[in-house]
Amino acid sequence: MSGRNGKRNLDIFKREETDMSVQDEVIYQIYPKSFYDTSGQGTGTLKGITKKLDYLQSLGITTLWLSPIFPSPMKDNGYDISDYRSVDPRFGTLNDLDTLIEKAHDKGMKIMLDLVFNHTSDQHPWFQKALQDPQSPYHDYYIFQPGPEEPNNLRSVFGGSTWQKVEGRGEYYFHAFSAAQPDLNWANPKVRDEMAQIVEFWKSHGIEAFRIDAINFIKKPEKWKSITPDGPDGRGKCTRVVRNAPGMEIYLQELADRCFEQGKIITVGETAGLPYEALPKFIGDNGIFNMVFDFKAADLDIVSGDEWFSRINWTTPDLKERIEQSQMAMQQAGWAANFLENHDQPRVTTKYLREHQDNLQAKKMLAMLQMMLRGTPFLFQGQELGMVNFERTSPDQFDDLSSIDQYHRAQEAGFSDQQALHFANLRSRDNGRVPFPWDDSPNVGFTTGTPWLEINHEAKARNLNAKAALDNPESLFYFYKKLIALRKENETLKNGSIRFIKNTSPDLIVYVRESEEKPNKESKNQNERFYVICSFSDQPQNLELPAENKIRKIFGNRPSALRQESNTISLEPFECLLLQENA
Ligand code: NOJ
Repeated sequence: MSGRNGKRNLDIFKREETDMSVQDEVIYQIYPKSFYDTSGQGTGTLKGITKKLDYLQSLGITTLWLSPIFPSPMKDNGYDISDYRSVDPRFGTLNDLDTLIEKAHDKGMKIMLDLVFNHTSDQHPWFQKALQDPQSPYHDYYIFQPGPEEPNNLRSVFGGSTWQKVEGRGEYYFHAFSAAQPDLNWANPKVRDEMAQIVEFWKSHGIEAFRIDAINFIKKPEKWKSITPDGPDGRGKCTRVVRNAPGMEIYLQELADRCFEQGKIITVGETAGLPYEALPKFIGDNGIFNMVFDFKAADLDIVSGDEWFSRINWTTPDLKERIEQSQMAMQQAGWAANFLENHDQPRVTTKYLREHQDNLQAKKMLAMLQMMLRGTPFLFQGQELGMVNFERTSPDQFDDLSSIDQYHRAQEAGFSDQQALHFANLRSRDNGRVPFPWDDSPNVGFTTGTPWLEINHEAKARNLNAKAALDNPESLFYFYKKLIALRKENETLKNGSIRFIKNTSPDLIVYVRESEEKPNKESKNQNERFYVICSFSDQPQNLELPAENKIRKIFGNRPSALRQESNTISLEPFECLLLQENA
């Protein structure tokens, strides 16, 4: 395996150079810190991921997205990178990553790396050099503004000013996230060149997929004016100025032209708040990425992604509307990236299901809702187990810096300590980041040491873990597995168009996937139509299906066969159905 100079022969990590299709992918996000620890240090390792490849393969996963595994002071859990070309010792070595890539390839899986290109860590040598010497070329890698006052009143995503004073110098630097994450200056061609070289470096290690973090923050204004305040702190959200700013696509197109070889590399951009009208620049035939994440449905429970305490009393029709708008916009422009959970979101069971309604049938219904949509499904670790949020009783129990900020901001906005804690609990990013439960042992089979983050006691009490799921043929795990298999086997479920059925009972979300060809009565089975029916109601429901031909049940979360006397379908509480109509 080792070549000359002890260097690994990287050619063996390359898969055969065949064109890959993003439509075939089912992507699973791993939060490496919390997946599986082989070191006993209480932190997940790359070797741990390699050990669990069989589990992921058996679910039907094609690509593993690893949240950042690069050296980092972990102020924002790896989203503060201090070296883009290496592996943090907590996770292992570059050799371990090469082995993971190789073993994943052996099983027909790809690895997707998470590139944090809007900012670096403040410990990155570029930033350190910029701080030490304002004459150094690295000073222009970042965004510095002269003092003595803060250049403007922008509030960072994690709270407080976006401007951090440089000690001993009359200048400030800009950070959209925490002060430990100084923003890079993408207007500098040298920065853009560095980014392209990093992509090429990882491609040479056999990486075929990239998720690109906060990439819609890279275009900064010419002048840093203050904006109308939107909070009691007198500040305005920086997202109003530095997110989705026109012109960012020019920098990104340059990166895409240099590095994102069509059909060889899979890319997904994190573009919260991107207006649908802008999509054609970002996805589709002439787009920069294969897919982008749209957060409009994920964030329906809060007024703005930046303020967790501004809650919305949403309804199922609201959810349906957001999913429909997103799907239709994505369909018009290109291909979608569909997710219910990720490392920044609470567990979907706690978000989309009402209190005491997070039962197995309801969780299966959510699985069908997501997996049959048009686009590439992304699962977040533990979603397949039906993980739930876990209520912390003190702000000190949070690791997530945004939970702590939100707790204080809710207090400042006039909420009681208890309410503030409740809001932080509902949305805390720690909900997803807890150690993955492999079994029901005290440390849930995650580590032999002390876990870096408290385990999810609620999940433990409910026996939510991989072992229990694998032992039970009726578990959510096998339901996801079947949905993934159905999607893989059927062209229409994979590539067919999507439209939503209107005028159903308000608690139902019903959509249609159909093959592109026009119905042709003579040739049977050529044109397919599927109905996906999801009930969010804890009561029985009826649905009048606008079907013209015979329908049959393909799959669902209830054992009952479909009674076929008429097009009226009776649904049990939280029932989901996949029906097929042959035109
Ligand atoms: C988005 C990432 O998903 C999140 O976890 C991170 O804190 C910010 N970008 C900053 O990198």
